[in-house]
Amino acid sequence: MHLQIFFFLSLPFLILSTPTPYGPRRSPKPFDTTARPGFLDWNRLRPDSFLKKRDLHSVEHFTNPPPIKRRRSPETSPSTSLLAPLEDRATPGQWSNMGGLGSYHPSAISWGPGRQDIFYTHRNDRRCYHRFYANGGWSQDWADLNGSCDFAPSGCKRRPNYMHVFCKGTDGQCWHRPYNGGSWGGWQGLGGSVRYYPCSCSWGFRHVGIYVCSPDRQLWGRQYDENTGWGNWANMGGSLAGAPTGVSWGEGNTMMVVMGDDGQAWTTMTNNGAATWTNWQSMGGSLDAPPAAVAVNGTMSMFVTGTDGAVWTRTFTNSTGSWSGWMNMGGTVMDATPPDVTATDSRNMEVYYTSTGGAVYRKKMTGGTWSSSWENMGGSVASKPSSVGWGPGNIDVYGIATDGSTRRCY
Ligand SMILES: *[C@@H]1O[C@H](CO)[C@@H](O)[C@H](O)[C@H]1NC(C)=O
Ligand SMILES: *[C@@H]1O[C@H](CO)[C@@H](O)[C@H](O)[C@H]1NC(C)=O
Ligand SMILES: *[C@@H]1O[C@H](CO)[C@@H](O)[C@H](O)[C@H]1NC(C)=O
Repeated sequence: MHLQIFFFLSLPFLILSTPTPYGPRRSPKPFDTTARPGFLDWNRLRPDSFLKKRDLHSVEHFTNPPPIKRRRSPETSPSTSLLAPLEDRATPGQWSNMGGLGSYHPSAISWGPGRQDIFYTHRNDRRCYHRFYANGGWSQDWADLNGSCDFAPSGCKRRPNYMHVFCKGTDGQCWHRPYNGGSWGGWQGLGGSVRYYPCSCSWGFRHVGIYVCSPDRQLWGRQYDENTGWGNWANMGGSLAGAPTGVSWGEGNTMMVVMGDDGQAWTTMTNNGAATWTNWQSMGGSLDAPPAAVAVNGTMSMFVTGTDGAVWTRTFTNSTGSWSGWMNMGGTVMDATPPDVTATDSRNMEVYYTSTGGAVYRKKMTGGTWSSSWENMGGSVASKPSSVGWGPGNIDVYGIATDGSTRRCY
């Protein structure tokens, strides 16, 4: 009886103390490593409402949206609430509170040594905020890039001083804002109809691709060329259950890795700048969240959160065209959050996940060998981790805490 009352009373607090911005864990079950046929034919394109004309925001509206009634005034100064005991000085990482009021997860990118750019969608006013690290210091405060975004933004570096930020607008279409050689261009509506959040990936200094899941779960992609501008949207088929992931190991190459509606990982790849894509291939697995991936020097490794709560990985080697089997890396990942990965080369990388308790864990591959156990980096975040390599030996990881502040581990 006492136990029952305790359980009943503590349930709301348990839920409050482990917020999951991505959804509850699918029913816990063992990880199935076998590749299975999909529910649908992934290579047969289906008619889609993706390009249907709808009531879309004008550029004016999106660039300067009417204020949303705020629950609180926007916080841009570092907040000190909810600091976990390990926050100040964790081993092996060190944490700082960058303030702000973000939602979901931050996007962290670097266009070159010594440079970092962090983006988030504001919890209340839905605008995109940006802060950067350059010349050894942080920009004064979070800059309001305006916009009216739904879910997390996706930043993409193209070459030094050139980057892009994408988001799903509150009107459902994909929006884009370029940073060209030192200043921001205006927001531009790219059309389409986005489910979840977009993913962007550059496959050469002139090129960037944007990939989104459509209302009926197909993958759509659109390519930008610095010389000729934006191409048309292309339907890439499939049947996705989460935001897509795209990575590139060099000129013309992009590998897409997605979570299917059947819980498996699925992949498709191009080696000719998205002119043609290979047929979708089912990879097996039982995913609890969209995959993370990294591509370097003709190899691509995906990292997924399994329905068993552990991190699993598989690697593709381009020269042999072959996949390794699934490897169980262990861990206890927060419900429905993807891990994250950053590599310095194909034999040196770091994988991060946010644990059920909000601490961030790391596993390192050094010279091709994985460290034996996960290191507790401390911290207290409520989002998936977003890591970024910004120079030799420098990998930072970011997350958003329950109070909306962005936390940095360095
Ligand atoms: C952003 O919005 C503010 C008003 O909220 C406006 O004054 C400013 O011009 C906008 N910035 C850009 C770059 O459009
Ligand atoms: C890249 O891969 C090729 C062959 O797969 C290998 O010979 C070369 O050493 C690798 N380069 C680096 C920098 O790892
Ligand atoms: C990857 O393999 C494809 C097909 O064998 C080949 O065309 C391409 O050049 C390779 N790319 C790299 C970077 O190894």
